[in-house]
Amino acid sequence: MAKKKPARAKSKAASRKVVKLASRKPAPKLKAKAAVKPKTNGNRLPKPSSKPFGKDGKALDGIRILDFTHVQSGPTCTQLLAWLGADVIKIERPGVGDITRGQLQDVPNVDSLYFTMLNHNKRSITLDSKSKQGMKVLERLVKNCDALVENFAPGALDRMGLTWERIHAWNPRMVVASVKGFGPGPYEECKVYENVAQCAGGSASTTGFRDGPPLVTGAQIGDSGTGLHLALGIVCALVQRNRTGRGQRVLTAMQDGVLNLCRVKLRDQQRLAHGPLNEYSQYGENIPFGEAVPRAGNDSGGGQPGWILKCKGWETDPDAYIYFITQAPVWEKICELIGKPEWKTDPEYAKPPARLPRLKHIFNTIEQWTTTKTKFEVMELCNAVDIPVGPILSMKELAEEPSLRATGTIVEVDHPTRGKYLSVGNPIKLSDSITEVTRSPLLGEHTNEILSKVLKFTPAEIAEIKASGATGEAPKAKMAAE
Ligand code: COA
Repeated sequence: MAKKKPARAKSKAASRKVVKLASRKPAPKLKAKAAVKPKTNGNRLPKPSSKPFGKDGKALDGIRILDFTHVQSGPTCTQLLAWLGADVIKIERPGVGDITRGQLQDVPNVDSLYFTMLNHNKRSITLDSKSKQGMKVLERLVKNCDALVENFAPGALDRMGLTWERIHAWNPRMVVASVKGFGPGPYEECKVYENVAQCAGGSASTTGFRDGPPLVTGAQIGDSGTGLHLALGIVCALVQRNRTGRGQRVLTAMQDGVLNLCRVKLRDQQRLAHGPLNEYSQYGENIPFGEAVPRAGNDSGGGQPGWILKCKGWETDPDAYIYFITQAPVWEKICELIGKPEWKTDPEYAKPPARLPRLKHIFNTIEQWTTTKTKFEVMELCNAVDIPVGPILSMKELAEEPSLRATGTIVEVDHPTRGKYLSVGNPIKLSDSITEVTRSPLLGEHTNEILSKVLKFTPAEIAEIKASGATGEAPKAKMAAE
């Protein structure tokens, strides 16, 4: 990437890039950077970038985020915004920080992977938001940020004194974005974690096997899924602000986010009124449907029957399995591959409706073939003839997969106290916006830098803020005076 002259002083931490201030209403006494004119050709149309893929600036350059998030849902959102170029300033409680810093610690007294993997590319300032001096800093932050993102328990932001009305009065351009467990209604006051959302959003009731209990999934659809929804909401609010000049509130409820991801199950709920769901294996097994969408085991969620089949080595390797889809257009190729050419013309197998009552037998037969091959051999043989299959990849296999390293989907990050660790990089690839994954900040690592260089507090003001204890430890006498 070509080096640009930095618009503001550089951080001491060499690994961090300084992000420019632009496109926001300037706070009193602070200068805003002039808008950058797009490069144009003779027809005044933008030229395509001449830089290599992903090497031309950052999509959210100039956007600054006041990150009041913790645990997983909110941090997922702000990490994405940071990867896309926003300057994300994470506010953390002095001495404690985001609770995940200390949760599931694999190395004693070192920020946990839970924290480091959800807070890349951010800066950290410690601030007691409930103190007078803390609120003074927050006010200055609100006036110099484009969006405030939070996922506190319902009412916590208001209890701090940061009501929407107050924020809007300080900075009418500010977008205020929240994750909550539930939207307005009977449960809106409830605190919610990942699995609560998975259960309340329809995922658990439709996951698992018909004869077993509801199951939660490994994918963090409640937390990370809602964080993704929130990030889109924030970017949309910023786009709308370009037209209206004002900010707005953005709310994503975890129940709503999970339900959105379970859309096909609500589809099936309504189809039930018109008869059994014949692509569910329970149909082929002559088991009647109840009033609600049942758990469908490993049945395919689409119109093409599928199932997870054993592969060579399954007796000892818990991940020696493959997802096999009996897609109608490639049925004849499947018959050839598994050594059942007669099924191509047999009226009991040739057409999809005829196969539905005997899917279990069909998959058992295919499995006799897949168990003679490794999952990778099955994948190679099937893909050669356009049969879609999915090898069950373990986290170990994913971590070691060279193609994911090459695209930056799996990245190795260096951390000053932890050393090197693996993380999932930005899954969203933009041709003009590079994602450099930098390490998560240490607790309060950027407090001084943000107070002086971003918020332009004078040395005397910083001394006063610090002496009050608002950013951390302070003499007891001073704290009492505050
Ligand atoms: N300075 C001073 N106080 C601070 C602070 C700071 N920098 N940061 C947080 N606090 C305070 C809050 O104001 C709040 O105080 P209050 O309850 O007296 O008003 C308190 O810390 C705790 O916040 P809370 O959000 O209630 O944390 P919790 O640990 O009790 O609950 C959740 C955690 C996740 C259950 C809850 O935040 C929640 O339901 N969030 C919304 C849904 C969500 O995102 N869930 C998924 C998380 S991955």
